Amino acid sequence: MSSSATAATASESDNIAALKSYKIVQNFGNFAETEAKRPDFDHAKPIEVTKSPYPEWKYGEGVPDNGASLAQKHHEIDPYAPDRPMINNYRLLVSGIAPRPVGFLSTINCRGQKNLSPFSYFQVIDHDPPMFIVGFSSRPGRVKDTYRNLKETGECVINTVSENMIEAVNATSIDAPYGVSEWEVSGLHEAPSTTVKPSRVEESVFNIEGKVIDIKEFTDHRQPGMSLAATVLIKATRFWVKEGTADADYTHIDLEKLRPIGQLGGVSYGRVVSTFERPRGKWDNEVPKNDLLAELDAAKLK
Ligand SMILES: Cc1cc2nc3c(=O)[nH]c(=O)nc-3n(C[C@H](O)[C@H](O)[C@H](O)COP(=O)(O)O)c2cc1C
Repeated sequence: MSSSATAATASESDNIAALKSYKIVQNFGNFAETEAKRPDFDHAKPIEVTKSPYPEWKYGEGVPDNGASLAQKHHEIDPYAPDRPMINNYRLLVSGIAPRPVGFLSTINCRGQKNLSPFSYFQVIDHDPPMFIVGFSSRPGRVKDTYRNLKETGECVINTVSENMIEAVNATSIDAPYGVSEWEVSGLHEAPSTTVKPSRVEESVFNIEGKVIDIKEFTDHRQPGMSLAATVLIKATRFWVKEGTADADYTHIDLEKLRPIGQLGGVSYGRVVSTFERPRGKWDNEVPKNDLLAELDAAKLK
């Protein structure tokens, strides 16, 4: 047997072993039966605006709950401990860092084949320039198609996900074979882009055309049989906002129109149905009104 054939066999068996221990997509048994027992989704639920949790809060007060939030100690975890499976970190992180916005990415490969997939290791990280970050996890076998496309063509459209889109968006996360378009899987509609080749999702309230600025691959953490994990930095090249969802200057999107979905732990999603506001202080305005800040300010001058 040639050495390359031996290598192929070795990586194939690594792949099979990786696939066996990969439990990211949980088995939910009869989910339809479970969901049937739940109340219907209230499409008309208004977004209420309440007071903040402690409206009378004062500087230096911490959490005014009589120590309740200090009652339990923390349990220390080494994420790299040899007996801690990767899946435990996955479950901990997606349940503990929540809610996460869902970036719904439209990409194409160098042959022009289209892809559409959701990512919640996603965030806007600046506005000047408008920058976004997306994280691609490793999986058994090939890298995520979206990541491959971003590497190949350097272009995408980031689309927002509203409540009414979630079933269609969730369906695009299926592990479709490379080159199969999830546009068909979802039934969502394409709209043309201006500065990049991939299409925009017409149903989304907000589309951001973008180009890849930088890629960081986590080669030092690669496991046998698993694809590379990577993070991609994307710079916006064009914004599209659905008419009727923003103010006249297109400076503010109406939450009632956006109806954003947040991803939580497991396969849970959350909706925004209650909000509150907290004004932000300015040091120079607050110091004369508050003894603690005045003391800190005086100490700073010594
Ligand atoms: C709401 C949601 C968020 C997801 N977030 C991520 C993510 O941040 N990173 C990731 O690698 N996979 C994520 N996934 C899984 C990918 O969408 C899934 O692996 C998909 O098949 C990738 O598609 P692609 O190979 O066509 O790019 C998410 C799935 C869902 C449903």
